[in-house]
Amino acid sequence: GAPVEVDISTLAPGEMRTVEWRGNPIWILHRTEAQLAALKTNDTDLADPNSDRPGFTPEYAKNEFRSRRPEIFVCIGICTHLGCSPTPRLDAGAQPGVPSSWTGGFLCPCHGSTFDLAGRVFSNKPAPDNLEIPPYEFSADGTRVIIG
Ligand code: FES
Repeated sequence: GAPVEVDISTLAPGEMRTVEWRGNPIWILHRTEAQLAALKTNDTDLADPNSDRPGFTPEYAKNEFRSRRPEIFVCIGICTHLGCSPTPRLDAGAQPGVPSSWTGGFLCPCHGSTFDLAGRVFSNKPAPDNLEIPPYEFSADGTRVIIG
């Protein structure tokens, strides 16, 4: 199918947009400075903190933020366990059913797997792998994400 272009010029810090690409939900999240800083605190509870496993993270996203630009997170919103779509929980803080170190992220409603705001999976629930990053790039002027 054709690539999907998304205008992110009005996507404010802390906001997330969902678009469809090849029948899958694609999340585009503008992470705040605080959200980026919090990612660093999760590593010891994660199954694959450095995204070393093949198949889920393109080379350009093999960095601490799993993205081409630190603040803009682009991810396929499908759980790596059995394919449900996790629910965004963008606020930090303790919540029922999530790890005590939770600083916000995505919670799968099916079997409780949790992911941080880089889509990295916590190792306490069944989802084995980090959420997949799709092929994408930015337009030359940086105002659009082109997925596919
Ligand atoms: Fe997400 Fe099972 S499908 S935890």
